[in-house]
Amino acid sequence: MLKLIIPPEEIHLIVERLAKEIRHDYSSKNPVLIGVLRGAFVFMADLARALKIPVEMDFICAARYGTRERPTKVAKIIKDISTDIEGRDVIVIEDIIDGGQTMKALLEHLKVKRPASLRLCALILRGKKRDLGLKVDYLGTTVGEGFVVGYGLDYKEQYRHLPGLYIIEGKGGV
Ligand code: IMP
Ligand code: MG
Repeated sequence: MLKLIIPPEEIHLIVERLAKEIRHDYSSKNPVLIGVLRGAFVFMADLARALKIPVEMDFICAARYGTRERPTKVAKIIKDISTDIEGRDVIVIEDIIDGGQTMKALLEHLKVKRPASLRLCALILRGKKRDLGLKVDYLGTTVGEGFVVGYGLDYKEQYRHLPGLYIIEGKGGV
C-alpha cells in the first residue's frame, strides 16, 4: 500500500527553491549536472529546466554489492560519465541519501577526475541528525523511516513513474 508523503505541487516548490539556490551560486558558470541513475532522472529533468541557466548533463550509475565474505555492501560504479569534468564545476544530483555510502563512493570517484568544484544536490535525506560524513550542499527535504517511491524512485523497478512521493507500507525488511 502506498501513502502519499509529498504531492507533486510540493515537489514543484522544492525544485523551484533548489533551482533558485543553485542559480544564485552558478549564474556566471556553466556547470555539469551529473545525475545518479536511475532514481534521479525525473528530479534532474525538472531541476535542469527550472534552473534557467546553461548547464551540461551527464549520468553515472552506482550499485551496492555485498558478498558472503564481505556482507557490508560496497558501492561500485557500473556506468561512468563520458564528459571530461577536469576543471569544470560539477553538481551531483541524487534522489535520496540514506546511509551515505553510495554518495561517498561516487564523490571519491569523481574527485579523481579533478573538477574545479564538486557539490551535491539531493532531493531527499533520510533522518536529520545522523552524521553522514557528507555535506549536502543543496537539500530538498528530509524524511523519516519508511521506503520512499515515486518521482523516479523505485521498489523493485516499480513506481518510478508516479508524480508524487510515497512511502510504501507493508513491504517489510527494508
Ligand atoms: P545509501 O548508500 O545508504 O545512502 O543509499 C542510497 C541509495 O539507496 C540511493 O541512491 C537509492 O537508490 C537507494 N535508496 C535508499 N533509500 C531508498 C528509498 O527509500 N527508496 C528508494 N531508493 C532508496
Ligand atoms: Mg539512487
